[in-house]
Amino acid sequence: MSQEIFRSPKKRGRIAVFLSGRGSNFRAIHDAILAGKINAEIVLVFSNRPEAPGLAIARERGLETFVLNPKLYPTKEEYDREILKELLKREVDLVCLAGYMRILTPVLCQAYRYRIMNIHPALLPSFPGLNAQRQALEWGVKYSGATVHFVSEEVDMGPIILQAVVPVFQDDTEDSLAERILKEEHRIYPEAVRLFFEGKLEVRGRRVYIID
Ligand code: GAR
Repeated sequence: MSQEIFRSPKKRGRIAVFLSGRGSNFRAIHDAILAGKINAEIVLVFSNRPEAPGLAIARERGLETFVLNPKLYPTKEEYDREILKELLKREVDLVCLAGYMRILTPVLCQAYRYRIMNIHPALLPSFPGLNAQRQALEWGVKYSGATVHFVSEEVDMGPIILQAVVPVFQDDTEDSLAERILKEEHRIYPEAVRLFFEGKLEVRGRRVYIID
């Protein structure tokens, strides 16, 4: 059986960012776009939470924002179908999950296969899910880090695009470790998006190759 191969498109991209909170990764991506490092524009900042601070940042920056209240939809699938309509309407090429605290249903994962990225504050497949920094401290690992990966139906399991490693110190708290990891997140997330729209990411099975 031949293996499916995906190659990211070389084009000026149209990005939707999904966030539920502070939005520092969204800001890092947008800053990289403004600095001319990424050949793309953010055409939509979406949230499930109207009070997400990241939305206020988006509005200040003149970006289009959009909120849908999940409670108004009888199923997760119907909620995602509504979001999908908005993505298609705006011809979105890539969705960047940036602290979006909902699990995507197959409705979005399948329609945007290899076109949804996520950032996770650990070296996946270690410490998936919530409170990754706390999990790392409790396990006693000496190194942790950040992972940018494509989103698949299984949470935090999609093909890994980039990772960065940070040391874990004996006197670390959850906050000090999170801060060290966050610096790396802000570096590798924009880098992954840049590579995507330079047409340099190739997915073969679980492996993502960076093509030069
Ligand atoms: C980031 O640390 C991101 O890695 C994490 O949420 C934070 C969002 O911060 N995401 C997850 O834990 C996903 N499982 P931000 O809103 O400042 O970008």
